[in-house]
Parts: sequence; structure tokens; C-alpha cells
Amino acid sequence: MKNNRKHRLRIGFVMDPIRKILYREDTSVSIMEEAGNRGHRIYYIEPKNIFFKAGRLLALANRVRAGLKNGIHVLSEETLDLRSLDIVFNRKDPPFDLSYLYLTQILELLEPDVFVINSPRGVRKANEKLYILSFPQWIPPTIVSNNPVQIARFQREKKIDLILKPLDQKGGTGIALLPYGASDKKRTIGKMTRRGSRWIMAQKYLAQNSTHGDKRILLLNGKVIGAFQRIPKKGEFRSNLSLGGTALPARLTQREKRLIASIRPKLLKDGLYFVGLDVVAGYLIEINVTSPAGIAELIELEGRHPETSVVNFLEA
Ligand SMILES: Nc1ncnc2c1ncn2[C@@H]1O[C@H](COP(=O)(O)OP(=O)(O)OP(=O)(O)O)[C@@H](O)[C@H]1O
Ligand SMILES: [Mg+2]
Repeated sequence: MKNNRKHRLRIGFVMDPIRKILYREDTSVSIMEEAGNRGHRIYYIEPKNIFFKAGRLLALANRVRAGLKNGIHVLSEETLDLRSLDIVFNRKDPPFDLSYLYLTQILELLEPDVFVINSPRGVRKANEKLYILSFPQWIPPTIVSNNPVQIARFQREKKIDLILKPLDQKGGTGIALLPYGASDKKRTIGKMTRRGSRWIMAQKYLAQNSTHGDKRILLLNGKVIGAFQRIPKKGEFRSNLSLGGTALPARLTQREKRLIASIRPKLLKDGLYFVGLDVVAGYLIEINVTSPAGIAELIELEGRHPETSVVNFLEA
């Protein structure tokens, strides 16, 4: 980050189109609001408006004022040299496709002059589903494969219900449940792997999820800034809020604290400063690094303001 310019940072938020954002419940908006209140200059940037030309990384950006109550208001439109920013906060949502990969490679050009959070290299390295494989002691029985035969064999050997997940999505998209006794297993696995041509994660379905849901734990610079439980709605096995799940206040268990302590060094080494862990029954099921959410929910549930810690971190 440039010098110690505590006053008036210039912060660019790379995000999905404004019209797709439910601003009242948006974590990026909460951070933009806090940073804006402290006098920092906030730019909203869509990936499609970033371009490299004549040796410079430029973006057609909107200077904005944003708030959870009032939404995002464009103050002016500018062609920005992204190097003129102090911080780029990449908050683009998955799918993690080729375009996303290129986005990380393009933002990486700004380093080390501009602080890019999360580190483009870290975001590439930490596929949100696969990254948990680096912490085998904390995950449920899991197989990653594109081979339907291997996945079916894994289930037969373990005699367990499986949850099948694509590796590039979010919000519960494309996830399927495969009970041990299901009759159409072959069809489901075939569909999920696209007949053996797509890698998926197949994992033991932890039954506690249906009653207690999962816990979203938000970490900033390796430290917990908030956690809440998400209970699936009736008739749904995924607890994602976008699928009707309910958020409830939560405290961390001793086991979860140990889990966090054990993964912290690697997260920080990989430049993953703002992440959301998903934990079911004390087991790590996902590490969200692209655009973790939860701050707006914590404000609503607890009246606390974790976004102040995020902006403190950006200032520091
Ligand atoms: N092994 C598991 N056992 C029980 N439930 C699970 C398991 N894995 C996932 N789930 C349920 O499915 C939901 C979605 O899974 P996961 O968090 O892995 O992907 P995602 O929600 O699509 O990703 P994101 O959090 O980025 O939106 C979880 O919130 C949880 O309720
Ligand atoms: Mg999740």
C-alpha cells in the first residue's frame, strides 16, 4: 500500500453489475459505506469496464456513495488508471470461470503498488471447494473426481449419503444430494459429472446440517470478525440464505477455534485476508475467498459492525 496515507484512500471495488446487487444485504456495500463515511474515495468497477491499453491498466469506473439503507449512488464517471488507487477490493462473485481467471491475472499486474484484496494469486490457488483439501484433518470424507465409477464406488465403500458439488459455483447452485439408498444414483452422478467430463466434489452428507445448518465464520486477516448459523428452509438440504435459509446468532465452539487456528497460517501465506468459512458439525466444507458475505447479516442479527474492522484493516 502506498505510504501511510491514512486520509482519503482511493479504493476500487470490482463487483458484479449494480442492478444485480441486493444492496440491503450486501457485504460489499457495507464496507463501501463505512469507508465512504470515513472520507475515503470509493469507486465501483465492473470487470467488463477494465482494459489494458498503451501500457496502462484502465477502468471506466463510477465514483459512488453507497449504503445499506440507500443503495449505490453514482457521483461521477471517470476513466481511472487503476494504479492511482491505493486498494482494489475484488468482490466479483463466482462462477469461477475462465473470465474470472483472467480477471485475477489482470489485477495481479497492479501488485505490489496497489494492495489487491484478496490476493489474485491466492484467489486462483484457493478454489473455494478444493482448498479445503489442504486441511484433511478438518473435512468430512470427500472424493474429488470426474469419473462416475469412482464416485459410486466411494459411496458403496463408505455406505454414506453424499452431497455432490460443482467446483466453480456459489449459493448452493448445482448442488445435489445423493442418499445411500437412492434408486437413480447412476443418473445423478452422470448428470453432475456431465458423463465423466466435469470434476466434482462428492462429500459425506453430514446429517446435522438439516437441523443445525452450517455456520458461516468471517475471518479478517486470520481473525474472527463474526459468525452466524444458517438453517435450511423446510424441504431444502442447502442452508444458503439465497435459498430461503434462516440466519441465527452463533458462537464458536472450541473445536471451531482450533480449526481456525490451524488453517490461519496458510490463509495468510496465500494472501487470503477476507474469507468466509462454511462449517457443518465442526467440519470444514468450504472456504469462500472470492466474495464472502455475511456482514449485513451480522449487523442485522447482532447490531455489531464488523465492517469497521475491515476498513481499519484497509487503513492499516
Ligand atoms: N458435507 C456436507 N454435509 C451437509 N451439508 C452440506 C455439506 N456440504 C454442503 N452442505 C450444505 O449445502 C450448502 C451449500 O454448500 P457449499 O457451502 O459447499 O457451497 P455453496 O453454498 O454453493 O457455496 P457459497 O457458500 O459460496 O455460496 C451448505 O451451506 C450446507 O448447508
Ligand atoms: Mg457455502
